[in-house]
Amino acid sequence: MSHCLEWSKAYAHRLPKNAGEPFFSRQKDISERLARELAAGELPFLNMPYREKLREALPPLLPRIKPFRHMLVLGIGGSALGARAIQRAFAPGQDEPNHAGPWLWIADNVCARAFEALLRKLQPAETVVVCISKSGGTIETLAQYFLVKEWLLAAIGERWKEHMIVVTDRTKGYLREEALRHGFHSMEVPDFLGGRYSALSAVGLLPAAFLGIDWQALLDGAYEVAHSLAQNPARLGVHPSFALACWAKALEEHQYSQLIFFCYIPSWAAYGLWFAQLWAESLGKNGKGIMPVPAVGVTDQHSVNQMFLDGPRDKGCLFLTSRARPQCGGFSGNLPEQWSWLAGKPFSALLEAEALGTRMALAANGVPLVHLDMEDDGPRAAGALMMLLEVATVFTGWLMDINPLDQPAVEMGKRLANARLGAKGYAGEEAALAAFLAEQRREQAF
Ligand code: PA5
Repeated sequence: MSHCLEWSKAYAHRLPKNAGEPFFSRQKDISERLARELAAGELPFLNMPYREKLREALPPLLPRIKPFRHMLVLGIGGSALGARAIQRAFAPGQDEPNHAGPWLWIADNVCARAFEALLRKLQPAETVVVCISKSGGTIETLAQYFLVKEWLLAAIGERWKEHMIVVTDRTKGYLREEALRHGFHSMEVPDFLGGRYSALSAVGLLPAAFLGIDWQALLDGAYEVAHSLAQNPARLGVHPSFALACWAKALEEHQYSQLIFFCYIPSWAAYGLWFAQLWAESLGKNGKGIMPVPAVGVTDQHSVNQMFLDGPRDKGCLFLTSRARPQCGGFSGNLPEQWSWLAGKPFSALLEAEALGTRMALAANGVPLVHLDMEDDGPRAAGALMMLLEVATVFTGWLMDINPLDQPAVEMGKRLANARLGAKGYAGEEAALAAFLAEQRREQAF
């Protein structure tokens, strides 16, 4: 059996068995829209027209980056989370004892102390810097770029350009201009490939390739999930992504407000953060949406699981497991009497048993739950999962009648921050800031 979705507990509690049907009946208009947007080239994450070009562009770059011990990625949001999930899943050595490299550092925040520590401890001569930004104008990423540029220049002079790679839009944006100005090596983020849908382009796969991860398997796994749909959008009704979307929309319709992403593949824990951004930034619009809640088994059984089980009945759950059985040691017969039932069992049996127990407990407590069971936990499977969730997210957005590919609400905070720092062209924001700061404060010391 391959990867599978298990639906027997999906419609439970106040989510009736037929709750998805009204949305399922919209498959004709959704599949027509899919055909239209694919034909217009607006969904490159799904039909991956850039795939062959990437397969040609990435390998020649590898001999250039291989000699570096460190890769420092500058990027945020969709330009960082995919690479981190892939790194944690498939090249976790950096978090293990006695790692001897390579090292990948992803700077996706503006913590002055952490960034300074990175620049103090990394050797410029041993570091390749990859600046990733689709727009090429994200302030957090550019601010880091300006600091890194000085850091490299001070240490290695004009050779700094050989240590820079940018991944950005093909033609537009400040980073593209910088690449042209200085002659950096660059890779493109294809047109219409928005940040949170871009992990399986150079955005996520260049860092993966640096770490020696099988990036082609990630691509292949994703392609296998979507190509039948891309070739024949009329097959929508039998595609699991659409079934997931109908279920998610039904949850929302029935006043479920949270969607747990419970990951029982511990090495894939960082996929929870990737999924949370994908889901939240795509679907939190016009007062609609279901809040994604990433959780990791078994760790979170001793944390938030009590709330999942017996808190407000407002949660659905995507429950992720893998049938892969890691080669691992087990328990000898040398155990205290009261634990002797563990003897002869592999350590991995514990994860499997606890996943089963938690899945049953969630179902028994009426949490509508779809079980995503992966055949294995390799890169090909991860690519398949990423594609499934990306496509399901877009269809959920279409069923909600919102645009899952934009994120207009987050712009206000960005504009205000720019105004605060004195950027030109933000007169309205400057006035709004002044009014906000002039408001009477109600402080309470503690
Ligand atoms: O998913 C998104 O579109 C966003 O989270 C972006 O990835 C994020 O804002 C960074 O944008 P950019 O890649 O243009 O720097």
